[in-house]
Amino acid sequence: MQMEQIVALCKRRGFLFQSSEIYGGLNGFWDYGPLGVLLKRNVKDAWWNDMITSHNELVISNGAPGTYDMTGLDSSIIMHPQVWKCSGHYDLFHDYMVDCRESKKRYRYDHVIGRFVTAKKRGEDGKPSTEIRIFVTTIETENTQSALEDAALKFFALRKKDTETLKWEGTIQSIATLPDFNEVLAPDAKHIGTLTQPREFNLMFKTIIGALGNDDDAAFLRPETAQGIFVNFKNVCDCMRVRVPFGIAQVGKSFRNEITPRNFTFRSREFEQMEIEFFCHPSQSAEWYKYWRDYRFAWYIKLGLANERLQLREHNADELSHYSCGTADIEYQFPFLPQGEYGELEGIAHRGDFDLRSHIEGKLVKEGEQLVLEKLPNNQPKYRGSGKDLSYYDDLTKERYIPHVIEPSAGADRATLAFLCEAYNVDSVPDEKGQLQERVYLKFHPRIAPIKVAVFPLVKKDGMPEAATEIYSELKKNFSAFYDDKGAVGRRYRRQDEIGTPFCVTIDGQTLQDETITLRDRDSLKQIRLKKNELVTELKNRL
Ligand code: GAP
Repeated sequence: MQMEQIVALCKRRGFLFQSSEIYGGLNGFWDYGPLGVLLKRNVKDAWWNDMITSHNELVISNGAPGTYDMTGLDSSIIMHPQVWKCSGHYDLFHDYMVDCRESKKRYRYDHVIGRFVTAKKRGEDGKPSTEIRIFVTTIETENTQSALEDAALKFFALRKKDTETLKWEGTIQSIATLPDFNEVLAPDAKHIGTLTQPREFNLMFKTIIGALGNDDDAAFLRPETAQGIFVNFKNVCDCMRVRVPFGIAQVGKSFRNEITPRNFTFRSREFEQMEIEFFCHPSQSAEWYKYWRDYRFAWYIKLGLANERLQLREHNADELSHYSCGTADIEYQFPFLPQGEYGELEGIAHRGDFDLRSHIEGKLVKEGEQLVLEKLPNNQPKYRGSGKDLSYYDDLTKERYIPHVIEPSAGADRATLAFLCEAYNVDSVPDEKGQLQERVYLKFHPRIAPIKVAVFPLVKKDGMPEAATEIYSELKKNFSAFYDDKGAVGRRYRRQDEIGTPFCVTIDGQTLQDETITLRDRDSLKQIRLKKNELVTELKNRL
């Protein structure tokens, strides 16, 4: 319910629009409107500023205090196809999907869940006939059991009051655990046994380079920004003369042909990532992994996400990627998820030397505890690496080694969505006649609020618009500001509250006499009067 209101507000107030809406939209793609682009840019800027430009964290590593370098990069979206062969994405970056022959819908194999139920199906004459046992399915909903009951009632042509004739067996489980699909009722089907066997589906978008290109010229839109960093590791080391430990950061678009994009921008086919690859000495990587896990978690809280809606979840050994020695997800209780469930905001992975070694040697696979080059039956490497030396030489210790990598990988769209959901608040405030009115407001942290300050002349006469425009021009030099002189002032406040503007400045009759203005705070609703020439400093302090 709350999610529907957030989605409606996003459209109404220009945060997010469905892509190509006038043509009916395109599933999995979104456009950021005039306020959305500011919000998302503020999120990315806050990340870039805190992680790269202004970071000066003092860390204790191997018992010694020190800091570390952070640099940036903006690599291309389309890279040499060999990048994806060596990284493993070409062979391994896929999901399994099942199709329903009846509804023509496609589902992610691991998302279809259900339970066995037995009941008597009504015949053509409306009388219960043979007893059947089927596995009824749905895709994760807020209330899975009631969705299953509805589907079962429909299938058995029973009414709600016959619910007790449904006999449920076992607990809810994924169809991935079933031996065959003949007795499965697909989520949107009327008949059983309509699901196809699961098929692999590579998530990378394919494109062809060149006007006359054929399949040999196939290239891929990057599914992550990380690989652009690994293939530039040597370039950055050489030009920046950075010393390990250091990090390279990148913000940019990534593309995944998700089978079931959903939950607003949470799972899209085109999205932005904010990734850091942090290179460190193998003997210190476990320590750096913990550092980045905790540091990134604290960042979300600093920018306004509530601690009680966030969790840091360490992956179990069986969840870890083949190269990873440790991964933690930062997860948030998005309002579209069932009560108590969390969705991933960011993953922090200890990737060992997997990536740099893959780009040196070729695609690696795990053999026991070792990573070894994957070979064809004729003993040739399956995919050859660059053969370039991507090791690091420490001229102080005279040691040459391949650094280990810690990767904090965040989604800019997911972070933006989480900040939007967290900011959504409803309270009641008295209107001009003293009657309580519901107020919807976005309680953004001032750093990410799209508009920092709005300026209103109380009325559109008596020199107030002129005085207000002058103040507005001054504020615009420092902040993202907005001028509004339309309608009652109370309504103008509500409009700003609804888009999360932390401060409103009103110019009234008194301003013209003593050069004071009122400054209103979005959250406390408190208003103070101050001299107009103190306004910029006051706002800078508060922001
Ligand atoms: N380089 C590692 C990597 O890409 P990931 O967990 O696949 O790891 C990192 O992606 C982050 O990117 C996720 O935590 C999420 O915030 C974001 N992300 C991934 N797939 C997404 C999608 N389909 N839509 C929106 N954001 C996505």
